[in-house]
Amino acid sequence: MTTFDHARSLGYDRRATRLLGGLYRRIAADIDTATAPGATVADIGTGPGKLLSHVATRRPDLRLHGIDLSPHMIEIARHNLHGHPVDLTVADVTDLPHPDASIDLAVSSLSMHEWPDLDPAADELHRILRPGGSLTVYDFRFTRAGAVQDTLRARFGHVDTAAVRLPWYPVAVVTRYRATA
Ligand SMILES: C[S@@+](CC[C@H](N)C(=O)[O-])C[C@H]1O[C@@H](n2cnc3c(N)ncnc32)[C@H](O)[C@@H]1O
Repeated sequence: MTTFDHARSLGYDRRATRLLGGLYRRIAADIDTATAPGATVADIGTGPGKLLSHVATRRPDLRLHGIDLSPHMIEIARHNLHGHPVDLTVADVTDLPHPDASIDLAVSSLSMHEWPDLDPAADELHRILRPGGSLTVYDFRFTRAGAVQDTLRARFGHVDTAAVRLPWYPVAVVTRYRATA
């Protein structure tokens, strides 16, 4: 697991701004389609909050929460999301601050490969989702794909997977996993 201290978090923020705008726009469009007006969305492993910044601009009606293990990432996210009413919290995916059945959509981008134990993470994500709520995870295509599918299927009963192409890359390097609570 990468530890995102202050310097690494700043470096990631700069790289994400330069390279990942296309991915964030794509995920923000998926969130737009998947959510009803006023829905509650949690971004798990939000990092510097870039995805939430796209979502907040596109859908100001949504209630947005960003969670990250790194206090340095959350500090940068607070700066990047200045002016947007987004709730930001330092927490582990296995111990989320949300009540049971309180989230309509949990999303995560490029973070799951850092989670050491998938089973407790899947249990916790299932706990915070309302019945019928959705989990959508975007992660590198070649990291633990079989284990991710098995874990989500065991907890959620099913999982859809799709390859996601980034505009700047010739092959799909990201997979989207989607499950319903
Ligand atoms: C590569 S960054 C991705 C950030 C952001 N989602 C994006 O797409 O730009 C991975 C993030 O996941 C966070 N993370 C890693 N393990 C975590 C855990 N167990 N619980 C919550 N966040 C975690 C890291 O601190 C880091 O900010």
